[in-house]
Amino acid sequence: MAAPNPDTWWRSAAIYQVYVRSFADGDGNGTGDLAGVRARLPYLAELGVDALWFNPWYLSPMADGGYDVADYRAIDPAFGTLAEAEKLISEARELGIRTIVDIVPNHVSDQHVWFRAALAAGPGSPERELFHFRPGRGENGELPPNNWPSQFSGNTWTRVPDGEWYLHLFTPEQPDLNWAHPAVRQEHEDLLRFWFERGAAGVRIDSAALVVKDPDLPDAADDDTTPYVDRDELHDVYRSWRAVADEFDGVLIGELWVPDPDRFARYLRPDELHTAFNFDFLARSWDAAELRASIDTTLAYHAPVGAPATWVLCNHDVTRTVTRYGRADDTGFDFAKKRFGTPTDLDLGTRRARAAALLSLALPGAVYVYQGEELGLPEADIPLDRIEDPMHFRSGGTDPGRDGCRVPLPWSADAPYAGFGAQTEPWLPQPEGWAAYAADRQAADPDSMLSLYRAALEIRRSGPGFGDGPLTWLPSEPGVLSFTRTDGPADGLICVVNLAEAPAGLPGHTSVLLTSGPLDDEGRLPRDTAAWLRA
Ligand code: GLC
Repeated sequence: MAAPNPDTWWRSAAIYQVYVRSFADGDGNGTGDLAGVRARLPYLAELGVDALWFNPWYLSPMADGGYDVADYRAIDPAFGTLAEAEKLISEARELGIRTIVDIVPNHVSDQHVWFRAALAAGPGSPERELFHFRPGRGENGELPPNNWPSQFSGNTWTRVPDGEWYLHLFTPEQPDLNWAHPAVRQEHEDLLRFWFERGAAGVRIDSAALVVKDPDLPDAADDDTTPYVDRDELHDVYRSWRAVADEFDGVLIGELWVPDPDRFARYLRPDELHTAFNFDFLARSWDAAELRASIDTTLAYHAPVGAPATWVLCNHDVTRTVTRYGRADDTGFDFAKKRFGTPTDLDLGTRRARAAALLSLALPGAVYVYQGEELGLPEADIPLDRIEDPMHFRSGGTDPGRDGCRVPLPWSADAPYAGFGAQTEPWLPQPEGWAAYAADRQAADPDSMLSLYRAALEIRRSGPGFGDGPLTWLPSEPGVLSFTRTDGPADGLICVVNLAEAPAGLPGHTSVLLTSGPLDDEGRLPRDTAAWLRA
């Protein structure tokens, strides 16, 4: 196969998401770090991924796991140094792996110099104009300036001692920036340059649809998000980001929670973002009609703007895949609202997650793998007194929060803390039995999730019919997804996923490349199983 065009690697890439805090602990203090990632680069190369997306690794008080950035030009000392990040970027690149950094334009940490200066400078000052400061309502300004709901439940306004209020769509430690201010725009363009100059190949844009607000900050009716979500002014912002990215052949990836696929696709026009996470697919139930509808809609809406689709099963914000697919309700964005004690069938979930892996890796475009997904890690129950995620606290303790998908990885079954590297209790506890998922154990087992991911990524990388390109549905029995991935008949890839109860016959093929589980005695594909075939 011809080497992928270096300019368009992102159209077909398999991108591995690294949550540094929980990936590998190089210095043994209980928190993952850049030294840990550098030591595990050979593992990532062997896994066969094309790029790494790092959740924010910058200086941060960690009020929201690093999504509260105090200084974008410094690495948090718990993770390492800027020099080390530069080394990591170039070492990965030598192994053929590109780096994507995470930029959080909607807000900064309340410890950021801008916000500290704004607090100190007082009402009416130019420093306050970088944020959304307003007087309160009510006779004595004791009521918040508007009624916007928080993305994390609870209030979106906090009052400071001089009486003014400031807006924060997330926690009070994450004040929202005022994107109508030219200095805010300039600073972010400088930041993009800063990281592209250090070798980043791409930027993931956090909460990309929330950044610009209606300048009047009006009250919003119950289900009306128009004053703060998906505002038309955003396109102008991302067009100027694109101009900066183009200077470096850099790639912009939006975290866009925009449910209307038509509105979503507008961000992917040729002079805006390159790609965005496709959350529709992740929010669908394990159901053939649902998944097919999502695939068709996704491809139909990407086509006119010429952008590749992306496929995501899981990330650091949502329930881990094997757990989600093992639950009765695996549907809708509501699964993100986690509940304590939800009954889960992990065997079922794991079977489905294996099939879903082959499905997502065969679909047209780029695909994301969240660390630990390749190990089939389940969502963990975190003891109440160890939960750190602000989502839990802001829900009044009803939502377990997102820590259950952020538990330190198990690397070696026989080492302390399953080989995470910690010499002391890790920042989040690993549940009982975690060592059974250890990478070293799975590497030795041809039937493990890790072996499945390695084999699939290897075939995807070296064989025809994967990544960017057309998809054609094949006739199939109800409940079965079956498609081919090439224009011509020669060498085509066929992917079949059986979501029906009865075993399914395989379409005509010359060889079976890989299956997510064994075929039955008659060579049929059992329920909740996927196969890759050569046509
Ligand atoms: C995004 C991140 C999430 C974070 C939030 C606020 O949704 O993925 O982890 O809490 O933005 O920055």
